[in-house]
Amino acid sequence: MRYVAIEKAKDNMVLAMPIYDSINRVLLATGTIMTRDYIRKLKARGLPGFYVEDELAKDIEVQDIVTQELRNEGVEALQRGDLDACMKVAERIVEQILSRPPIRLDMIDLRMFDDYTYRHSVNVAVMSTVIALNLGFNKKKLKEVSISAMLHDIGKLMLNPEILNKPGPLTESEYEHIRQHPQIAFDFLRQRMDISSTIRAGILSHHENEDGSGYPNGFVGDDIYIYAKIIHVADVFDALTSKRPYKVPYARSEAVEYLMGGCGRFFDRDVVEAFIQSVAIYPSGTEVMLSDGREGIVAANKWNPLRPLIRLWDGEEIDLNDSCNYRDLTIVPETDAILV
Ligand SMILES: [Fe+2]
Repeated sequence: MRYVAIEKAKDNMVLAMPIYDSINRVLLATGTIMTRDYIRKLKARGLPGFYVEDELAKDIEVQDIVTQELRNEGVEALQRGDLDACMKVAERIVEQILSRPPIRLDMIDLRMFDDYTYRHSVNVAVMSTVIALNLGFNKKKLKEVSISAMLHDIGKLMLNPEILNKPGPLTESEYEHIRQHPQIAFDFLRQRMDISSTIRAGILSHHENEDGSGYPNGFVGDDIYIYAKIIHVADVFDALTSKRPYKVPYARSEAVEYLMGGCGRFFDRDVVEAFIQSVAIYPSGTEVMLSDGREGIVAANKWNPLRPLIRLWDGEEIDLNDSCNYRDLTIVPETDAILV
């Protein structure tokens, strides 16, 4: 299958993966033939793109490392504010990830504007778990990271909704109110005997920066608990690459550059390195342009996340990891490719 950005979608394309709405209903099933009307409606709802059947890409399999059903269950549990259900989903995320090696997030999340908040938390839980796995955490710790990440923004449910959802710029006091959300969650969860102090520490410090410029406590370096360092990286990457009504998303490669540039200042270097091993920077089935002007799709992500196997439109395959033959060839960053 091949991923098509919504801007490049055409009628008669055949869906290769279902599209869900925010309450877990299938909006369009696999096999649906796209029409101009469907595309217009999905675009208005903020869907970034979808996967289609494609002759050139028919052997390219794209599989999410956790099922869409489980992600949707997580969204529903968060919407209900059901902590027990959130924790169960977080634990099942770990079970599914451990059952499906090799682990690299190689799929673009098909989400719309209206379910951003909750889907973001589920995505951060999945990403944080994969990072923790690449850092060598055991299963007990993976479950703690997953729960901490799933609940990282739960404190926002206790903020003034008028300030949280204010469309315009925030005043300094409103911004200060928003910055309370990690502390509010930390205090609120103290009453839960089944939520450990380490899970709470992950939630409390997910906006702290390595250099002490973060909030709520201005912790520096090793004073920031490792769960929080992981959630921080996953949270920022997911926010940067998400399509929102008021901003154009970063390309994945740009977001990775941002994380690398922020090592030591905002982010922990080891965590960023584990993250780069965890996420396909050029996911399978997505279109790319090479530095010599040739175009194609990513056929597989095996070794180096920056140098996947490319299949050109004429069927020729180029393994960018083959440094003898293709040393000088690179992938043109997505934003530059759009401008060409
Ligand atoms: Fe947050």
